[in-house]
Amino acid sequence: MMLARQRVLILGGSTEASELAHRLADLDGYDVTVSYAGRTTTRTRTPGRVRVGGFGGAEGLADYLTAERVEVLVDATHPFAARMPHHAARACATAGVPRLRVWRPPWERVDGDHWYEVRDLDAAAELLGRLGAGRVFLTTGRQDLAPFARVPDAWFLVRAIEAPPAMPLARACVVLARGPFDADGELALMRDNEIDVLVTKNSGGSAAAAKLAAARTLALPVVMVRRPPCPDGPRASSVEEALSWLGGLVCSEPRLAQDGASG
Ligand SMILES: NC(=O)c1ccc[n+]([C@@H]2O[C@H](COP(=O)([O-])OP(=O)(O)OC[C@H]3O[C@@H](n4cnc5c(N)ncnc54)[C@H](OP(=O)(O)O)[C@@H]3O)[C@@H](O)[C@H]2O)c1
Repeated sequence: MMLARQRVLILGGSTEASELAHRLADLDGYDVTVSYAGRTTTRTRTPGRVRVGGFGGAEGLADYLTAERVEVLVDATHPFAARMPHHAARACATAGVPRLRVWRPPWERVDGDHWYEVRDLDAAAELLGRLGAGRVFLTTGRQDLAPFARVPDAWFLVRAIEAPPAMPLARACVVLARGPFDADGELALMRDNEIDVLVTKNSGGSAAAAKLAAARTLALPVVMVRRPPCPDGPRASSVEEALSWLGGLVCSEPRLAQDGASG
């Protein structure tokens, strides 16, 4: 008897998504498609099938799950993807497909940190005005610059993976880079640019954590944007946890191959 390979859809956009796709590619038993929103023109190499672009809301995704006979969905979008996790939850409920959210733990404040936690980017911009920020290291991403246009007195060092399509900030310099970043490099960047405040989303993970250590060393304030709410349901905080959850599904639901292969 031959077991069919389980049809998995990974919603990508995080380092965990591509790591999970690589790990599943090395295992028998999984037929993986990774879906990207298509915001960046360059992507880390992903094994298996890749599709790009929105599904057309929760209804579109539910139709896709049914049409493609997806058996399990792993939502490994970035922790700041505000809409897709909710669409995924609704679509999976409609289509009767199990769903796992990969949700890496947020960063936690440690001794020596000077964090101001804010609910969103607008609140971050408003706080910069109140702090009288002069030279800001802005690491929230190229799609999220507009709210900071209302802090005209500040100069911004904007770090992004790709150049912003338009620059809404009057006084800014863009540095293009993709993590992981190391502590010495972050310290040098912040010192050389005479940064006096860091703005970041609480993305968690190790790839972008060095800027927090650098801010701590320089005793700089950090404006930390909290994550958007995430739907209820099973969560994995790492790729390892996601693999064991998927393994549990395979063990509990053996399926025969549809092509009639037998042994
Ligand atoms: N927001 C961030 O800070 C951030 C940072 C790094 C990476 N990303 C990644 O960039 C993507 C877009 O971010 P966002 O903040 O615009 O997310 P979002 O608000 O949750 O999603 C907006 C729309 O983009 C489409 N979409 C999102 N992720 C998709 C995926 N993996 N495959 C196919 N379509 C997807 C969906 O369109 P339809 O409704 O048409 O299906 C969704 O409604 C996400 O995949 C996210 O993981 C976001």
